[in-house]
Amino acid sequence: MLLGIMGAMPEEVDQVIACIEDKEIVERGGRLYYRGNLYGQPVVAVFSRWGKVAAATTASNLILEFAVDKIVFTGVAGAISPELNVGDIVIGQRFFQHDMDARPLMRRFEIPLTGKTSFETSEQNILDMSQAIHNFLRNNKEFRKALAEYDIKNLKMLIGDIASGDLFVSKKEDKISLSRHLPSVVCVEMEGAAVAQVCDDYHIPLVVVRIISDAADENAHNAAVGFLQKYAGAYSLSILREYISLILDK
Ligand code: ADE
Repeated sequence: MLLGIMGAMPEEVDQVIACIEDKEIVERGGRLYYRGNLYGQPVVAVFSRWGKVAAATTASNLILEFAVDKIVFTGVAGAISPELNVGDIVIGQRFFQHDMDARPLMRRFEIPLTGKTSFETSEQNILDMSQAIHNFLRNNKEFRKALAEYDIKNLKMLIGDIASGDLFVSKKEDKISLSRHLPSVVCVEMEGAAVAQVCDDYHIPLVVVRIISDAADENAHNAAVGFLQKYAGAYSLSILREYISLILDK
Protein backbone atom coordinates (compact mmCIF):
# COMPACT_ATOMS: atom_id res chain seq x y z
CA MET A 1 0.00 0.00 0.00
CA LEU A 2 1.41 3.39 -1.02
CA LEU A 3 0.09 6.26 1.10
CA GLY A 4 -0.18 9.78 -0.33
CA ILE A 5 0.26 12.53 2.26
CA MET A 6 -0.86 16.05 1.45
CA GLY A 7 -0.85 19.41 3.16
CA ALA A 8 -1.58 22.80 1.64
CA MET A 9 1.33 24.67 3.18
CA PRO A 10 4.99 23.78 3.80
CA GLU A 11 4.45 24.19 7.57
CA GLU A 12 1.82 21.43 7.48
CA VAL A 13 4.13 18.77 6.04
CA ASP A 14 7.73 19.92 6.68
CA GLN A 15 8.21 17.73 9.75
CA VAL A 16 6.69 14.75 7.96
CA ILE A 17 9.04 15.24 5.01
CA ALA A 18 12.02 15.54 7.36
CA CYS A 19 11.21 12.10 8.83
CA ILE A 20 10.88 10.27 5.49
CA GLU A 21 13.72 7.79 5.00
CA ASP A 22 15.31 6.65 1.70
CA LYS A 23 13.94 9.83 0.22
CA GLU A 24 13.63 10.45 -3.52
CA ILE A 25 12.44 13.89 -4.68
CA VAL A 26 10.45 14.29 -7.89
CA GLU A 27 9.41 17.72 -9.23
CA ARG A 28 6.18 17.99 -11.23
CA GLY A 29 4.11 21.07 -12.01
CA GLY A 30 6.06 23.19 -9.56
CA ARG A 31 5.44 20.77 -6.67
CA LEU A 32 8.06 18.61 -4.96
CA TYR A 33 6.92 15.04 -4.26
CA TYR A 34 8.91 13.20 -1.56
CA ARG A 35 8.79 9.43 -1.97
CA GLY A 36 10.22 7.11 0.69
CA ASN A 37 9.37 5.39 3.97
CA LEU A 38 7.70 6.98 6.96
CA TYR A 39 7.84 4.81 10.10
CA GLY A 40 8.06 1.78 7.78
CA GLN A 41 5.15 2.84 5.55
CA PRO A 42 5.83 3.59 1.86
CA VAL A 43 4.64 7.17 1.28
CA VAL A 44 4.68 10.10 -1.14
CA ALA A 45 4.34 13.46 0.63
CA VAL A 46 3.71 16.85 -0.98
CA PHE A 47 2.39 20.28 -0.20
CA SER A 48 -0.07 21.54 -2.77
CA ARG A 49 -0.28 25.28 -2.02
CA TRP A 50 -3.56 26.86 -0.95
CA GLY A 51 -6.83 26.58 -2.80
CA LYS A 52 -9.02 24.07 -4.62
CA VAL A 53 -7.27 24.09 -8.00
CA ALA A 54 -3.79 23.64 -6.52
CA ALA A 55 -5.08 20.83 -4.31
CA ALA A 56 -6.94 19.12 -7.16
CA THR A 57 -3.98 19.10 -9.56
CA THR A 58 -1.66 17.83 -6.82
CA ALA A 59 -4.08 15.07 -5.78
CA SER A 60 -4.53 14.05 -9.44
CA ASN A 61 -0.79 13.77 -9.83
CA LEU A 62 -0.44 11.69 -6.67
CA ILE A 63 -3.02 9.29 -8.07
CA LEU A 64 -2.04 9.20 -11.76
CA GLU A 65 1.73 9.46 -11.64
CA PHE A 66 2.62 8.02 -8.24
CA ALA A 67 -0.25 5.51 -8.09
CA VAL A 68 -1.01 6.10 -4.40
CA ASP A 69 -3.64 3.75 -2.94
CA LYS A 70 -4.97 6.22 -0.38
CA ILE A 71 -4.54 9.90 0.52
CA VAL A 72 -4.35 11.47 3.96
CA PHE A 73 -4.65 15.24 3.96
CA THR A 74 -3.54 17.06 7.11
CA GLY A 75 -3.69 20.77 7.79
CA VAL A 76 -5.40 23.61 9.58
CA ALA A 77 -8.95 24.94 9.41
CA GLY A 78 -11.13 27.72 10.77
CA ALA A 79 -13.83 26.76 13.28
CA ILE A 80 -17.45 27.19 12.28
CA SER A 81 -18.99 25.17 15.11
CA PRO A 82 -18.92 27.07 18.41
CA GLU A 83 -17.95 23.75 20.05
CA LEU A 84 -14.51 23.86 18.41
CA ASN A 85 -11.49 25.63 19.92
CA VAL A 86 -7.98 26.23 18.61
CA GLY A 87 -6.08 22.94 18.78
CA ASP A 88 -9.13 20.68 18.42
CA ILE A 89 -9.05 18.07 15.68
CA VAL A 90 -11.68 17.38 13.02
CA ILE A 91 -11.92 14.27 10.85
CA GLY A 92 -13.92 15.11 7.74
CA GLN A 93 -17.05 13.10 7.10
CA ARG A 94 -18.68 14.92 4.15
CA PHE A 95 -17.03 17.60 2.04
CA PHE A 96 -18.93 20.54 0.52
CA GLN A 97 -17.64 23.19 -1.90
CA HIS A 98 -19.22 26.24 -0.32
CA ASP A 99 -18.42 28.42 -3.36
CA MET A 100 -20.00 26.06 -5.93
CA ASP A 101 -23.17 27.74 -7.17
CA ALA A 102 -24.57 27.01 -10.64
CA ARG A 103 -28.10 28.17 -9.85
CA PRO A 104 -30.57 28.32 -11.51
CA LEU A 105 -29.17 25.44 -13.57
CA MET A 106 -28.77 23.22 -10.51
CA ARG A 107 -29.14 23.23 -6.75
CA ARG A 108 -26.76 25.44 -4.79
CA PHE A 109 -23.56 23.45 -3.93
CA GLU A 110 -24.32 20.72 -6.50
CA ILE A 111 -21.15 19.52 -8.25
CA PRO A 112 -22.04 19.60 -11.98
CA LEU A 113 -22.89 16.23 -13.53
CA THR A 114 -22.51 14.28 -10.29
CA GLY A 115 -25.96 14.95 -8.82
CA LYS A 116 -24.18 15.37 -5.47
CA THR A 117 -23.62 18.33 -3.18
CA SER A 118 -20.89 16.56 -1.19
CA PHE A 119 -18.45 13.65 -1.24
CA GLU A 120 -17.81 11.52 1.81
CA THR A 121 -15.16 9.44 3.51
CA SER A 122 -15.99 5.80 4.23
CA GLU A 123 -16.88 4.75 7.76
CA GLN A 124 -13.87 2.41 8.01
CA ASN A 125 -11.43 5.15 7.06
CA ILE A 126 -12.96 7.50 9.61
CA LEU A 127 -12.81 4.77 12.25
CA ASP A 128 -9.12 4.05 11.64
CA MET A 129 -8.20 7.73 11.81
CA SER A 130 -10.33 8.34 14.91
CA GLN A 131 -8.52 5.47 16.65
CA ALA A 132 -5.17 7.02 15.66
CA ILE A 133 -6.25 10.40 17.03
CA HIS A 134 -7.44 8.80 20.29
CA ASN A 135 -3.95 7.30 20.58
CA PHE A 136 -2.38 10.67 19.77
CA LEU A 137 -4.45 12.40 22.46
CA ARG A 138 -3.56 9.69 24.98
CA ASN A 139 0.14 9.22 24.17
CA ASN A 140 1.57 12.62 23.41
CA LYS A 141 1.86 14.08 26.91
CA GLU A 142 4.94 16.19 26.11
CA PHE A 143 3.31 17.80 23.10
CA ARG A 144 0.12 18.48 25.05
CA LYS A 145 2.18 20.04 27.86
CA ALA A 146 3.81 22.38 25.31
CA LEU A 147 0.35 23.30 23.95
CA ALA A 148 -1.00 23.95 27.46
CA GLU A 149 1.68 26.60 27.95
CA TYR A 150 -0.07 28.55 25.20
CA ASP A 151 -3.46 27.88 26.76
CA ILE A 152 -4.39 25.20 24.23
CA LYS A 153 -5.84 22.45 26.42
CA ASN A 154 -8.63 19.91 26.80
CA LEU A 155 -8.17 18.95 23.18
CA LYS A 156 -11.04 17.14 21.56
CA MET A 157 -11.71 15.33 18.35
CA LEU A 158 -14.84 15.73 16.27
CA ILE A 159 -16.03 13.79 13.24
CA GLY A 160 -17.95 16.25 11.08
CA ASP A 161 -18.63 17.92 7.77
CA ILE A 162 -16.12 20.27 6.21
CA ALA A 163 -16.66 23.12 3.75
CA SER A 164 -13.94 24.11 1.30
CA GLY A 165 -13.74 27.10 -1.00
CA ASP A 166 -11.38 29.64 -2.47
CA LEU A 167 -12.00 32.03 0.38
CA PHE A 168 -10.12 32.60 3.61
CA VAL A 169 -13.06 33.13 5.96
CA SER A 170 -12.37 36.10 8.21
CA LYS A 171 -15.62 38.06 8.19
CA LYS A 172 -18.49 37.49 10.55
CA GLU A 173 -21.06 37.73 7.75
CA ASP A 174 -19.25 35.04 5.68
CA LYS A 175 -19.11 32.72 8.68
CA ILE A 176 -22.78 33.24 9.50
CA SER A 177 -23.81 32.76 5.88
CA LEU A 178 -21.79 29.56 5.61
CA SER A 179 -23.36 28.01 8.69
CA ARG A 180 -26.85 29.13 7.66
CA HIS A 181 -26.57 27.51 4.23
CA LEU A 182 -24.56 24.45 5.30
CA PRO A 183 -25.69 23.88 8.89
CA SER A 184 -23.87 20.54 9.35
CA VAL A 185 -20.45 22.05 8.59
CA VAL A 186 -18.11 22.28 11.59
CA CYS A 187 -15.02 23.86 10.02
CA VAL A 188 -13.85 25.61 6.87
CA GLU A 189 -10.70 25.34 4.79
CA MET A 190 -9.63 25.70 1.17
CA GLU A 191 -8.78 22.23 -0.20
CA GLY A 192 -10.48 19.18 1.34
CA ALA A 193 -13.57 19.07 -0.88
CA ALA A 194 -11.49 19.50 -4.03
CA VAL A 195 -9.31 16.52 -3.08
CA ALA A 196 -12.47 14.59 -2.15
CA GLN A 197 -13.90 15.17 -5.64
CA VAL A 198 -10.69 13.97 -7.32
CA CYS A 199 -10.53 10.92 -5.04
CA ASP A 200 -14.17 10.13 -5.80
CA ASP A 201 -13.46 10.31 -9.56
CA TYR A 202 -10.62 7.78 -9.21
CA HIS A 203 -12.13 5.66 -6.39
CA ILE A 204 -9.21 6.43 -4.09
CA PRO A 205 -9.95 6.48 -0.34
CA LEU A 206 -9.31 9.80 1.40
CA VAL A 207 -9.05 10.90 5.01
CA VAL A 208 -8.90 14.60 5.85
CA VAL A 209 -7.67 15.67 9.29
CA ARG A 210 -7.95 19.34 10.19
CA ILE A 211 -6.57 21.07 13.26
CA ILE A 212 -8.45 24.19 14.28
CA SER A 213 -6.12 27.18 13.93
CA ASP A 214 -8.62 30.04 14.20
CA ALA A 215 -12.26 30.95 14.65
CA ALA A 216 -12.81 32.08 11.03
CA ASP A 217 -13.35 35.60 12.38
CA GLU A 218 -11.71 39.02 12.09
CA ASN A 219 -8.55 37.73 13.86
CA ALA A 220 -8.33 34.57 11.74
CA HIS A 221 -5.28 35.59 9.70
CA ASN A 222 -3.12 36.27 12.80
CA ALA A 223 -4.34 33.18 14.60
CA ALA A 224 -3.91 30.90 11.58
CA VAL A 225 -0.39 32.09 10.73
CA GLY A 226 0.73 31.83 14.38
CA PHE A 227 -0.72 28.33 14.71
CA LEU A 228 0.77 27.19 11.40
CA GLN A 229 4.23 28.33 12.40
CA LYS A 230 4.13 26.88 15.91
CA TYR A 231 2.10 23.69 15.89
CA ALA A 232 0.74 22.50 12.53
CA GLY A 233 3.81 20.43 11.65
CA ALA A 234 4.03 18.68 15.00
CA TYR A 235 0.33 17.79 14.90
CA SER A 236 0.63 16.34 11.38
CA LEU A 237 3.66 14.24 12.22
CA SER A 238 2.32 12.93 15.54
CA ILE A 239 -1.07 12.01 14.09
CA LEU A 240 0.51 10.30 11.08
CA ARG A 241 2.86 8.33 13.33
CA GLU A 242 -0.14 6.94 15.24
CA TYR A 243 -2.09 6.34 12.03
CA ILE A 244 0.74 4.46 10.34
CA SER A 245 1.41 2.29 13.40
CA LEU A 246 -2.27 1.37 13.37
CA ILE A 247 -2.58 0.56 9.66
CA LEU A 248 0.76 -1.33 9.63
CA ASP A 249 -0.51 -3.54 12.47
CA LYS A 250 -3.61 -4.52 10.49
N1 ADE B 1 -7.73 27.54 6.97
C1 ADE B 1 -7.45 27.88 8.24
N2 ADE B 1 -8.27 28.86 8.66
C2 ADE B 1 -9.08 29.15 7.62
C3 ADE B 1 -10.14 30.08 7.43
N3 ADE B 1 -10.50 30.92 8.42
N4 ADE B 1 -10.77 30.10 6.23
C4 ADE B 1 -10.39 29.26 5.24
N5 ADE B 1 -9.40 28.37 5.37
C5 ADE B 1 -8.75 28.31 6.55
